[in-house]
Amino acid sequence: MLFQTTQAHEELRAKVRAFAEEAVKPIAFMLDQQNDFPAEAVKQMGEMGLMGLPYPKEYGGAGLDVISYAIAVEELSRVDGGTGVILSAHTSLGTWPIFAFGNEAQKKKYLVPLCKGEKLGAFGLTEPNAGSDAGGTETTAVLKGDHYVLNGGKIFITNAPKADTYVVFAVTTPDIGTRGISAFIVEKGWKGFEFGDHYDKMGIRSSSTAELIFNDVIVPKENLLGKEGEGFKIAMATLDGGRIGIASQALGIAQGAYEAAVDYAKERVQFGKPIGFQQAIGFKLADMATKLRCARLLVYSAADLKEAHVPYGMESAMAKQYASDIALEVTNDALQIFGGTGYLKGMDVERMYRDAKITTIYEGTNEIQRVVIASHIMGKPPK
Ligand code: CAA
Repeated sequence: MLFQTTQAHEELRAKVRAFAEEAVKPIAFMLDQQNDFPAEAVKQMGEMGLMGLPYPKEYGGAGLDVISYAIAVEELSRVDGGTGVILSAHTSLGTWPIFAFGNEAQKKKYLVPLCKGEKLGAFGLTEPNAGSDAGGTETTAVLKGDHYVLNGGKIFITNAPKADTYVVFAVTTPDIGTRGISAFIVEKGWKGFEFGDHYDKMGIRSSSTAELIFNDVIVPKENLLGKEGEGFKIAMATLDGGRIGIASQALGIAQGAYEAAVDYAKERVQFGKPIGFQQAIGFKLADMATKLRCARLLVYSAADLKEAHVPYGMESAMAKQYASDIALEVTNDALQIFGGTGYLKGMDVERMYRDAKITTIYEGTNEIQRVVIASHIMGKPPK
């Protein structure tokens, strides 16, 4: 398909880029070093309308399209991948299922403050025994009168413990597989809902990631999202969109590393000329630029399909898999161009190289993306 961004998209890019350069870039190294969350920047993102970009104005959103959202994640990630995923996990994972499957009362109560950036959202699917095999969920929710009792736990949850609102998946009917899983909206602060330690991660250290622990948490019946048994489909549909966010994050990280490498290749002189004019480096830059262009087209076209309300699960898996694979290659090449200097702490390319790695792992490993793509190509196997 043909695809082009509009003037409005590019104006939004300029606005988010200016914000990222001014409010995030100067602190990115410190956030990484101190494993610190950019609370002030996230608050400002809310004030700028970035936390509800692709949602209708009637729910407190900005009423923009999915490409605008992808551009915002990309531009934040261009300076700091951690800040990029805070927006992505909030918008795609924490907010979208409430927008898509919530009833009017749930939207008024939860969606509006999420879109306005007054509350931060998160998504609780992964468990110790249910990672790639998300259908192996063991957390349980047992109906008792007017409420469910939630027990179990979730690991690797982006935005926890900072987030206020969690979309959590739990088994309501045991022994029937994925059709026995339901989705719930769970609030931070409820009795029995606690957090494990903040993980000490290799990269995206400005984003917070923690374990969720549920001990007899009382979840009112009205916080069931969708119908009982629809949870797995809600999770899968949410991840279809989430993967556009991670693809955008990977693209932004790679773009940031590429730009740093180009600048360095223009200024670093060896053998009597800037190294970018040495064919070995020039060819690397050419390959990096080509990969970035391919990734950007895949990401925006998946976003465009989502916006058009046509099937986009295969395309979002392709975008996520490709953009994250090339983010590893591009950040690696950028660091190689910097040589020993790039290997030093404090250099953006060193941080970006570490930040890129997670994009091939979370919201479905790239092996799972290939499972998804192949299943779209082949359909279900014969019985
Ligand atoms: N949309 C809607 N429904 C879907 C769907 C989709 N994209 N994909 C599957 N389904 C439905 C199927 O149609 C099927 O429905 P029926 O029961 O009616 O037949 C049902 O779901 C089960 O489907 P499968 O048999 O294909 O399910 P599976 O158990 O084989 O799993 C999988 C498929 C693709 C491997 C899936 O388990 C998966 O995506 N795993 C990866 C999970 C993942 O991405 N986890 C990351 C969590 S978020 C995170 O990383 C943390 C963070 O905070 C950032």
